[in-house]
Amino acid sequence: MLNKLLYMETFGCQMNVNDSERIVTMLADLGYGPTNDPASADMILLNTCSVRGGAEEKVYRRLANLRIYKRDGKKQIIAVGGCVAQQEGEELLRKLPYLDLVIGTHNLHLLPDLVRGAERGERRSETSFIDNDQRLDLFPSITGESRLSRFVTVMQGCDNFCSYCIVPFVRGREISRRSADILNEVRQLADDGVREVILLGQNVNSYGLKAGNEPTFAELVRQVADIDGIDRIRFTTSHPKDMSDELIACFGDVPKLSGQIHLPAQSGSDAVLGLMGRGYTRDSYLDKIYKLKALRPDIVVTGDIIVGFPGETEQDFEQTLSLMEKVRYIDLFSFVYSPRPGTKAAELRDDMPRAVKMARLDRLMELQRFHTREISTTYVGNVMTVLVEGEGKLPGQVSGKGDIGRIVNFTGDISLVGSFVDVKIIKAYPNSFLGEI
Ligand code: SAH
Ligand code: SF4
Ligand code: F3S
Repeated sequence: MLNKLLYMETFGCQMNVNDSERIVTMLADLGYGPTNDPASADMILLNTCSVRGGAEEKVYRRLANLRIYKRDGKKQIIAVGGCVAQQEGEELLRKLPYLDLVIGTHNLHLLPDLVRGAERGERRSETSFIDNDQRLDLFPSITGESRLSRFVTVMQGCDNFCSYCIVPFVRGREISRRSADILNEVRQLADDGVREVILLGQNVNSYGLKAGNEPTFAELVRQVADIDGIDRIRFTTSHPKDMSDELIACFGDVPKLSGQIHLPAQSGSDAVLGLMGRGYTRDSYLDKIYKLKALRPDIVVTGDIIVGFPGETEQDFEQTLSLMEKVRYIDLFSFVYSPRPGTKAAELRDDMPRAVKMARLDRLMELQRFHTREISTTYVGNVMTVLVEGEGKLPGQVSGKGDIGRIVNFTGDISLVGSFVDVKIIKAYPNSFLGEI
């Protein structure tokens, strides 16, 4: 019985979104049902991200705001999970007297214990890493609400240690799941009515490389594609250095593989890519994009770019703009470089004024808005096959995603949820399409 209320906020990437689904499953077993109202909640949980400094401070501000609900003697558990929890650990309990529990990225299986303890008034922090295969078996699974599109974790952690990035420090060593377990999970999901799976990990295309007897990621994609009932496959995130010819070939002959790929370049300058420790060059990145486009001329590419990395010159930055011209991303996530504690790049001299970094970000975003508009308007008039997932933006509308991963809203009956519908695109917005059946 759900007799208590959980209010949760999730920050950061899809790993966190996926972990939040596990948390909801586990807390339902303890009687917690979701609420959107922090004031009435019996438990407030923030699932946090620390990839950039700003994100971390946002958590502190958010906690400061939420603590008002804990006054007036009300018994309410306040918890922090995710990557800021992993990074700060006990320190958070020391700094914030109203905080009850801190749970790290490898400790989700301990949540029920910690919550029961907190209900009795205990304050605890659990953030020890489990850097062996046991981690995979301890990882709680997701049950409950059936959906058409589901994440399937294929690997956890990251061993790349890009010089700017905190993820390897807060998510631990890279571990691939056993392919038999992944395929069983996908078969089960297909039996439950799931039509689309999103294979998930910080660097999915290095899947199996360190495991010895597991398939490569390209082989895994083909095995997933062989499962009846699964009609569409996506994956995120890919590292360009591990984007093999074998995986690129899948885009040519695995029709279930989505027509969108997220391939973060981070920079278009070889000098900056070298300092970032990314393990590829501008030309080898572009070569992979060209190969993908040759096999799937209508493929759309999304990516991530960091501007203002220490030592980035005006010429380096222009190289990034020119890379964007060559790739023509449909959407691009761009960030100003933010030094992270313990990373190699945090030791580099960074004397570029903030105003210069912001001006570069503005230029980059303006170019991207132009590309987004240009590419998305080419779809107006086309018919797109949309997997309808739920209610649309306006009353009477439903919404879903086409093969290229963008949201399409269109007038239609809610009974369409769960089916693939051919929809004609009539208008392109900055982040979505408007269509009609
Ligand atoms: N594993 C994924 C990305 C994880 S972090 C990958 O390798 O693609 C998501 C994005 O945040 C990164 O792609 C990068 O663009 C950005 N990012 C990571 N660390 C950053 C930092 N210190 N400052 C600014 N942006 C950063
Ligand atoms: Fe961070 Fe690089 Fe790992 Fe991505 S591949 S999570 S950017 S260290
Ligand atoms: Fe953020 Fe952690 Fe993901 S730092 S980007 S939530 S792995």
